[in-house]
This record gives sequence, C-alpha cells and structure tokens, in this order.
Amino acid sequence: MPAISSSAPGKVILCGEHAVVYGMPAIALPVFQVSTTTKIFAKPQSSDGEVHVIAPAISLDTILVTLEDQDPLKIAARLVMQEFHLDHIPACEIHIQTTLPIAAGLGSSASTAVSFTRALSTFLGHPLPDNTINRIAYEVEKHHHGSPSGIDNSVIAYETPVYYQKDRPIETLKIASPFTLVIADSGIKSSTAQAVAGVRHRWEQNRQQYEDWFYEIGQISIDVREYLENGMIEKVGPHLTHNHVLLQKIGVSNSELDNLVEAALTAGALGAKLSGGGLGGNMIALVSNEQTSTVVDALISHGAIHTITTTIPASGGIGHLR
Ligand code: MEV
Repeated sequence: MPAISSSAPGKVILCGEHAVVYGMPAIALPVFQVSTTTKIFAKPQSSDGEVHVIAPAISLDTILVTLEDQDPLKIAARLVMQEFHLDHIPACEIHIQTTLPIAAGLGSSASTAVSFTRALSTFLGHPLPDNTINRIAYEVEKHHHGSPSGIDNSVIAYETPVYYQKDRPIETLKIASPFTLVIADSGIKSSTAQAVAGVRHRWEQNRQQYEDWFYEIGQISIDVREYLENGMIEKVGPHLTHNHVLLQKIGVSNSELDNLVEAALTAGALGAKLSGGGLGGNMIALVSNEQTSTVVDALISHGAIHTITTTIPASGGIGHLR
C-alpha cells in the first residue's frame, strides 16, 4: 500500500505576538521553506491498534498507546479518532520528519500537529477539512503551552497570511505588493510556554502598564495591516522595529535578539524584531531586494546560526476563514 503523506509549513509572527494572547490583533505568515511531513504506512500484518510512531527530531520511536495521555501526538490521535467514531487505529507506522528547528518560534509544535492530524485523517478515510484540522491542532497546542492564542495553528492549518484576533473569525490578509523577510535563528532554544507564562506573571503584577503595552502592540498590527493592504511596505519597517521595543518592555527579548535586530538595522533593513515567543528563537528583518544579502551577512556575523529568506507574494482578497 502506498504511504499517506501530508505536509505543513512553518510560520513567523510579523507583529502582535504576546499581545494576541490578551485579545489584541496580530499578523502571521506561513513559511514554506520549512515544513513537517507525516507519512503513514499501513501494516496489515500487525495487530489492530499497533501504531508505531517515529519522529527523529524529538527522539521518538515508540508505540502510540505507550505515550502519556497528555502527549501532543496522543491527544491529536484521540481527537482524530473521535471525528471518525473509532476506538482504535488500524496497525501502521507513522514517520514524522521536520525541517523546522524545535523551540525556535517557527511553529514546530503546530506544524507537527497539523501535518499529523491531516495525514492520520486521510489514513482513516478522508482528509478532514481545514477548520477541523485547525480546531484539533488548537486543542493540541493548549496542552503544549497553556494559554495559546490560536494564531500558530491557524496560520499553519490555512497556509495563508492571517490577521488574527482571539475569539473572532480568522481573517485572510490582502497583500498588495510582495515583500521579503530575512528570518534569523539566534540558536538559543526557548519555550513559548515559558515566555507566555513569564508575561502572564508580570502582567498580574502590573496589569495597567502591561495592558497599555499590549494595546500599543495591537495598534501596530492594525496599522501594518493597512500598509500591507495598500502596498506601503516602506511604512511597515519602523512599526516592526517599534514592536520589538515593546517586546523588550514586556520582557521577552534578550541580548542576542537585540544584537541581531541592531545588526539588521545597521545593515540597512527597513525594520526588525524578534518573532514568536522570544527569549531566543528567531528574529525577522524586513528587507529591500538590494539589502537582502548585506543583511543576511550581518546577521550571520552577529551570531545567527541560520537564516531563511522568504518573499511573501502579493495575494488575494480579504475574507474570513471558517
Ligand atoms: C507564538 O508564536 C505567539 C505567542 O503570541 C503565543 C500565542 O499567541 O499563542 C507568543
């Protein structure tokens, strides 16, 4: 039997991270240069329910039922089985391969959840629709990192730029003119769950100040959206850099990320900021075509262990995703 195969991209948050957890809008973009692929091979000779999962990136090589009940893959499998009213999965081998760095702010957990859920549902009968995949991936994310906003699973499940605000319909973004981002990995692993928990702790100590900062971050997302929709890319840059300053204030940057942001700006980037949970992981720099290689070189010489250059194409209309 041929293998079932399903891939999901990575993502970056263009602006609005952390504030989005508190109800402010944020913008996220899929990153197709990195992906997670789940392949499922039927094992008709093995007994039903014998589901072997192999995921080298997280050093996993085990039988699904032996995983803890709170394991993200076990939760995803349980939710997919519920959709199909099944109490077991026919014997199979599931291989999960990823080119996403783990704990680096590029959405590795959501990408794994989406590719796994899509592949497993196809294996069990038919691929579930994007909104169901998104809902399941969100449930998995909740177990993974406490109080996620849902932006990571949404941008990855729908594979399109999104303007996201918690508890509102997910909106697609019109991108009037293409733009290029350099994504640079600080090489420091960091847990989004811990970064989110840290912000929550500080917010509890100082609600008014944090809510003012969250509001300011939300205004950046509102403005950036308008600029993207009207092809005013040069106006986006300073907003991204200002977003970084606010992320410093809420305590999720560090000296390595600050150095990379500074290096990108000095090399001529239009704007730069950390992206995702922070405290390590990746940062992004908005670049013109002429500056791209200078900015990449500057980031590498200031300690980035890897860069990805991605161009976000002009894209369709504004709409709601369901
Ligand atoms: C992580 O990519 C974005 C955060 O805002 C967390 C979340 O929205 O769930 C830091």
